[in-house]
Amino acid sequence: MAEIRQEQILDALRTVQDPDLGKDIVSLGFVKDIRICGGNVALTIELTTPACPVKDQMKAQAEQQIRALPGVEQVHVDMTAQVRSRKLDPRELLPGVRHVIAIASGKGGVGKSTVAVNLAVALAETGAQVGLLDADIYGPSLPLMLGLHDRPQLTTTETGEKKIVPLEACGVRVMSLGLLLDENRAVIWRGPMVAGTVRQLLADVDWGELDYLLVDLPPGTGDAPLTLAQMVPLSGVVVVMTPQQVAQDIAYKSVLMFRTLSASTERKIPILGVVENMSGGVFGSGGGERAAIRFGVPFLGHIPLDATIAESGDAGVPAIVNAPDAPQAQAFRTLARVLAARVSVLQYRTAGADTLATTPV
Ligand SMILES: Nc1ncnc2c1ncn2[C@@H]1O[C@H](COP(=O)(O)OP(=O)(O)O)[C@@H](O)[C@H]1O
Ligand SMILES: [Mg+2]
Repeated sequence: MAEIRQEQILDALRTVQDPDLGKDIVSLGFVKDIRICGGNVALTIELTTPACPVKDQMKAQAEQQIRALPGVEQVHVDMTAQVRSRKLDPRELLPGVRHVIAIASGKGGVGKSTVAVNLAVALAETGAQVGLLDADIYGPSLPLMLGLHDRPQLTTTETGEKKIVPLEACGVRVMSLGLLLDENRAVIWRGPMVAGTVRQLLADVDWGELDYLLVDLPPGTGDAPLTLAQMVPLSGVVVVMTPQQVAQDIAYKSVLMFRTLSASTERKIPILGVVENMSGGVFGSGGGERAAIRFGVPFLGHIPLDATIAESGDAGVPAIVNAPDAPQAQAFRTLARVLAARVSVLQYRTAGADTLATTPV
């Protein structure tokens, strides 16, 4: 029986490409832990995100390539994802969080929170660890949208700090000022309080290890995005808008604000792209694509205008959970896949091939 060598396996796997990163999985350093035992071959492919849109396809291709080698009887490919890409740095505010993604909009009522909630659940469905921070402290709506009423508990961390434990809903760790305040208590905000509160929701919460922390920002250009950008490295910003022509100028203000912040905080904040929400209603669709072209940023996807999305939100169950097979749910899942791919590509470009593509096996 022909002896199977590791190089043969690596050569065979060089034909398997990561379509997002445009390179083969061997050069990318994704192939780990090759085990050969007689005619049995087992290995692990470690992707940059559990939300990888072409995970199954890559696995099938890899298995097919190895099976075609002489002497191979059985193939077992495990698909995993890197637990973290950044080095654990205790000086960082959120050392266990891999990607902080801000969800922004020019104005309120465009569905920013709805998109944030359903996107978070869609990412969690792929196996990613996901957190959702309601930084819209003027109008925290995530507790209602997720049916959360309990008071968060306090915990003492290993280092003796007291931290707030996020609540969990639909597989997502959630924190909102709305969970900490008495219901119906109005807050009169002064400038520095906004920064202080956003800081607390980030730093005083035991987020643990997360692949993605989505941050639902207040609409417009205020202190919350500034504080966020100063406190944590942002993997990027998703801008939510409605299809109307007039929505473009308002959305553009958000884009410009993050570009200015990016320059002033010396931390690059990529605009991950534009989402068109409430697509296909009286305002038609296509405004999001046109805006993305005008802003020079990617277009991430449409979410249809649909009464069940609003009803789900009001009922405290995200649309993606309420009607998991409906087209709206699929739209959120597609959006999650596109976003995860975009974040991976940017991470890869920033980290450079040498960081990501560590020597295989
Ligand atoms: N795609 C959609 N189709 C129908 N209703 C939607 C859609 N997206 C959001 N809504 C509804 O629009 C209202 C505003 O959404 P919300 O997410 O609270 O906006 P924002 O956070 O931007 O202020 C809510 O009642 C929500 O249920
Ligand atoms: Mg909102």
